[in-house]
Amino acid sequence: MRVSPRIRAGSPVSGEVGAIRGELRGAGGAGGAANADPGTHGRNAGAAGTLVSLVTIDLNAPTSTREPDTRALDDAAVARIRADFPILAREVNGHPLVYLDSGATSQKPQSVIDVERAYYDTVNAAVHRGAHTLAGEATELFENARATVARFVGAADDEIVWTSNATEGLNLLAYSMSNASLGRGGEDAARFRLGPGDEIVVTELEHHANLVPWQELAFRTGATLRVIGLDDEGRIRLDEGPDAAANVIGARTRLVAFTHVSNVLGAVNPVERLVDLAHAVGALVVLDACQSAPHLPLDLHALDVDFAVFSGHKMLAPTGIGVLYGRSELLNALPPFLTGGSMITTVGLTESEFLPAPMRFEAGTQRVSQAIALATACDYLDAIGMHRIEAWEAALGQRLYEGLAGIPGVRILGPAPDARTERVGLASFVVDGIHSHDVGQFLDDRGIAVRVGHHCAQPVHRRYGITATTRASAYLYTTTAEVDAAIEAVADSRSFFRVA
Ligand code: ALA
Repeated sequence: MRVSPRIRAGSPVSGEVGAIRGELRGAGGAGGAANADPGTHGRNAGAAGTLVSLVTIDLNAPTSTREPDTRALDDAAVARIRADFPILAREVNGHPLVYLDSGATSQKPQSVIDVERAYYDTVNAAVHRGAHTLAGEATELFENARATVARFVGAADDEIVWTSNATEGLNLLAYSMSNASLGRGGEDAARFRLGPGDEIVVTELEHHANLVPWQELAFRTGATLRVIGLDDEGRIRLDEGPDAAANVIGARTRLVAFTHVSNVLGAVNPVERLVDLAHAVGALVVLDACQSAPHLPLDLHALDVDFAVFSGHKMLAPTGIGVLYGRSELLNALPPFLTGGSMITTVGLTESEFLPAPMRFEAGTQRVSQAIALATACDYLDAIGMHRIEAWEAALGQRLYEGLAGIPGVRILGPAPDARTERVGLASFVVDGIHSHDVGQFLDDRGIAVRVGHHCAQPVHRRYGITATTRASAYLYTTTAEVDAAIEAVADSRSFFRVA
């Protein structure tokens, strides 16, 4: 028997009246159906078994039974998607909201908003403890959510550790490796031990969350942190130069941590090559998938990374939920970071034994509603199709890049979209003579929300001789008209601030 919060099987592109229904299904009794995945991942998101509906969140009855739409997204399809996002109907400063800050956090569809409420209305209980019915139902929903998220990223269920966000996942890993370095985990954890002479490798474009924890791990263990450089266009140096990956990664390298997609430059990085270089010397690979999991089809097994992290709030889910992925064999050899209840088998007064992964890393009362909501978000994205979302955002990204590049005095960070460069729908730029905060304020006056500053990535800004940029970042609900409005506003900011 399984229970699963999910989008109704057969729900295609949302926003069409009745297309998306978030259903929170509870345990007990007969009936139910398989949860056939209408997405394009090629994986069956099926939650087969006997189901009885505890509550149905009927968002826009009647429910469509159309087959999923596999055509490329266009503005008409995006208009239907937008109908699922209540916040997109609001005005800001007398203008319709143009939300171009999805790189910082995404907006949420009604099904995600409703599933959390439905959980609290009908099921709420602590998971993995308690013999009562609600506790059992909550536990099933929680574990089914793990299975849904695992399928969404091409992982096995027990390879998904719930965290608060990606930052916590990276810190969990770094502190668990510290514990291994102190001898915890015994010989099984020897591969995680670091000390003087060992090297941790990152790149110059990392978000602070994928940099500072490794700095601290190096400090605690005596290991050395080394950095792969960037070329002038914003590509990771792979072969040429002393700071190229092929020259930085070597016999002393124990761990290589890098981002799949830079939150500043927007380009998709060469994961396969970096994984090959790392694995050739026996190093572990940690992938920051914060800006890829929401925007691209992600298959962690196919990418062959050892660990990965992402945050739910950037992919339509609430704040307070994220994932640390680890290969099963590695997670089960890694000593825990946070300890306490729910992660033990036996506890004595002077020592304890721990559960296998993933529960070994999930001490304390868990984030149940958030996990269920993240699974609902994954179902929503799958129902639309990650390949379609990827293609739509690439088109928006190109439009944004070309539009901004055509404005005199505007400099965009990162490589131009071309045959060898895939970009997501994101552009960070400088307008000569205007501080990014002023550009952001000017856009906000027109209802256009962008991010300004260093975007938690100071080193990559420093690499290109600047301290701050304005960043516009799109998502599946962004229209071409919104991109055009942002480009026009940036152009107008130059005359407003008299730099034209
Ligand atoms: N990392 C998030 C961003 O890029 C917060 O905006």
